[in-house]
Order: sequence, then structure tokens, then C-alpha cells
Amino acid sequence: MKWAILSDVHGNLEALQAVMADLSQEGAERIVFLGDAVGYGANPNECMLLLRQLTEWMVAGNHDYGAVGLTDVSSFNAAAQAAIFWTGKALSDESRAFLRQLPLLRQTGGMTFVHASPHEPGAWNYIFTFPEAEQGFQALAGELAFIGHSHSPCILAKKGENKIMAHEGEGATLERGVRYIINVGSVGQPRDRNPQAAYGLYDEAGRVYLLKRVSYDIQTAQWKIIRAGLPLSLAHRLSLGA
Ligand SMILES: [Fe+2]
Repeated sequence: MKWAILSDVHGNLEALQAVMADLSQEGAERIVFLGDAVGYGANPNECMLLLRQLTEWMVAGNHDYGAVGLTDVSSFNAAAQAAIFWTGKALSDESRAFLRQLPLLRQTGGMTFVHASPHEPGAWNYIFTFPEAEQGFQALAGELAFIGHSHSPCILAKKGENKIMAHEGEGATLERGVRYIINVGSVGQPRDRNPQAAYGLYDEAGRVYLLKRVSYDIQTAQWKIIRAGLPLSLAHRLSLGA
């Protein structure tokens, strides 16, 4: 089974369309989404529709729940709060109802799919440090988790009680007996200094994971953000990948 794992679209329709075209060429059989469909970008409803049509299922991100009042956004920075306020007003009733019923976590075939960390998914914990990753591994049921949230791709591996290893590079063949937490990066607002849209491809049979990068029409996405009256910084960062 070949999985395409998308996360953090954030209302960026141009990036999502480019990723959808790419993953169909890759022959992905199951498309799933790890949360943050909305927030930051100017096309929340359009992205929701496309994700609902093309993914098998979705889990919730903090911006998804934030936009519909299901999580506290007081810790968000000013631009993120402004975008959540804008998004909350822009969402259709149907989008709003759909976001409200999204689960925090999905488990299937020994794999966990969650927006933030397997450790208390509703607390939206980031995994930036090894201690944060240890908490994630301790809470992880099974051998493999796919996550998003930080918008920074990475592959973390833990064998037995050994220290966690962070893989360099953008792909790996997953060893048996090793547990992994893999961040698939962000479709709509990458923050690893590469402005191209990111998503993960996982070939279950061969246990091969690959991070894909896809060029998209950044200028149009930026122009829409500016025209919508969203903070200019949200347009600017797209060309930086930051
Ligand atoms: Fe996000």
C-alpha cells in the first residue's frame, strides 16, 4: 500500500493543488491528512472541499479546532490569531461542522496519525527537542507515527532503549524493530527554509519513506492573502519557507 500523508495545508489552495497533482503521478493509493486544513491562507473552504474529496480521512490540527472555538488560541502569535479570527468568519457552516467533528488521532495497521505528538494529542505539544521526542515515543502505541504541526520535516528513530536518532536527508528505509516518528512537513506553509510544498510518501510493502517537495504558484497564494486583508507577514513568509 502506498500512502500519501499530507499535513498543514493552512488554506493554501495553490500548494494543495500542486501536491494533489504530484501524488497522483506517484501512484499513491491512500491519501490522509494530519490536520491544519485552515488558518493563515486565503482559501480555507476550498481546501476543505478538496481535502474531503480526496483524502480517506483527516485528523484535527490546532488551527482547525481554533477556528471553530474548540481550542484556546491565546498562545498564538498576533498574525496567527488574526488569521484564525478571519478564518472563523470565512468558514462555511458545512466546513465549520466538519472541522468540529474531526478526531485528534487515528490508528490503523500499527501506524499512528496525529497532528502534534502522540503524547497528549489535544495539548498540541511540539516535538522540537529530544526530551519532547522521548515523550512522544513513550506515548506511541506501535512502531510508527506520522505527525505534522512544526512544519519542519524530520525522521526520528528509536531502537529499544537507545537514544533517539534524527535522520538527515529526506527519506529512509524503515528498519524492523526500530520505532519511528516522522514529520511530513507542511503543504501550505513550509518552515524549513525550502518554500516548496512538502508531503510524505510511504510505501508500506517496501517500508520506504520519502519526503516529496513540489513547486507551486507561490505568488498567487501570496496575492490572495494580501487581497483578503490577512497580515502581510503571512504572504511574505511563503517565499522564504519560514
Ligand atoms: Fe500548522
